[in-house]
Amino acid sequence: MELCQQISVLRQKITAAKSDGKQVGLVPTMGYLHAGHQSLIQQARLDCDLVVVSIFVNPIQFGPNEDYATYPRDLERDSQMAYAAGADLIFAPPVADMYPKPNLAHVEVDLMGNCLCGRSRQGHFRGVATVVSKLFNIAQPHKAYFGKKDAQQLAIIKRMVEDLNFPIHIVAIPIAREQDGLAMSSRNIYLSPAQRAQAPVLHQALVKAQEMFTLGERSSIQIIAAMKQMIGYQSLADIDYIEIVDTETLQPVEILDNSSLLALAVRFGKTRLIDNITLGED
Ligand code: PAJ
Repeated sequence: MELCQQISVLRQKITAAKSDGKQVGLVPTMGYLHAGHQSLIQQARLDCDLVVVSIFVNPIQFGPNEDYATYPRDLERDSQMAYAAGADLIFAPPVADMYPKPNLAHVEVDLMGNCLCGRSRQGHFRGVATVVSKLFNIAQPHKAYFGKKDAQQLAIIKRMVEDLNFPIHIVAIPIAREQDGLAMSSRNIYLSPAQRAQAPVLHQALVKAQEMFTLGERSSIQIIAAMKQMIGYQSLADIDYIEIVDTETLQPVEILDNSSLLALAVRFGKTRLIDNITLGED
């Protein structure tokens, strides 16, 4: 496996692979890889001839009071984990190469970036859509892999690709969870032992919602009320939002019919955890 830090070198390698008729897959990450990231890489390995994993902690998607400076970084460990999962190439550009000048051009996906997590993370999804566009333009992969863990991000990227005609197929990968149901996240390391012990309630509340849906409940208000009560029993959990929205547009759904996204964000101290489930057909 190779490490590549320069945009021009990555482009040369990808151009060469494509001219040999190879399928190129891109897995964009911010590093500090875990089994969730690895499941994206493994699927890319199955689908593609050249698997590129980008590792870039993107400054423009972090708010002023967020954890950009302290976000965990460990390129050595990430390289080993990416290799073990089947990556061919790691692309880890320096910030100065990705943003040689203050970034003036941005990609914004209207309506979808300001709801759910966007309400408490102003500008976050603009930063995500912008860096993902840059990575798509730099790598020009055939396929790109994203986790369902970040359901809003996934919906926004899918819409961006559609609206802006990126010739890239987006592949969505299921959420990888710890044994007790907590969705894997690079930020779980911030949780204290007491917070970590309570965090599985997020998944438990989603399972409860799934059960209510299966038994015929179709009112978003009723499902959300039951979840709020369940999460409220955990003393360290502070609910940011629990919402049921249309899977594609992310706009609120009051009565569930087809497939809807049930998404939540809950704070444990300074750590904000997200999770979600699709109710109805996925
Ligand atoms: P990051 O948080 O590192 O996540 C990289 C990819 O891994 C995302 O597509 C995310 O949804 C997926 N992922 C994370 N945890 C997962 C889990 N438990 N199960 C399945 N997939 C999981 O998301 C980002 O980075 C950035 O916003 C990025 C897209 C790289 C742009 O900077």
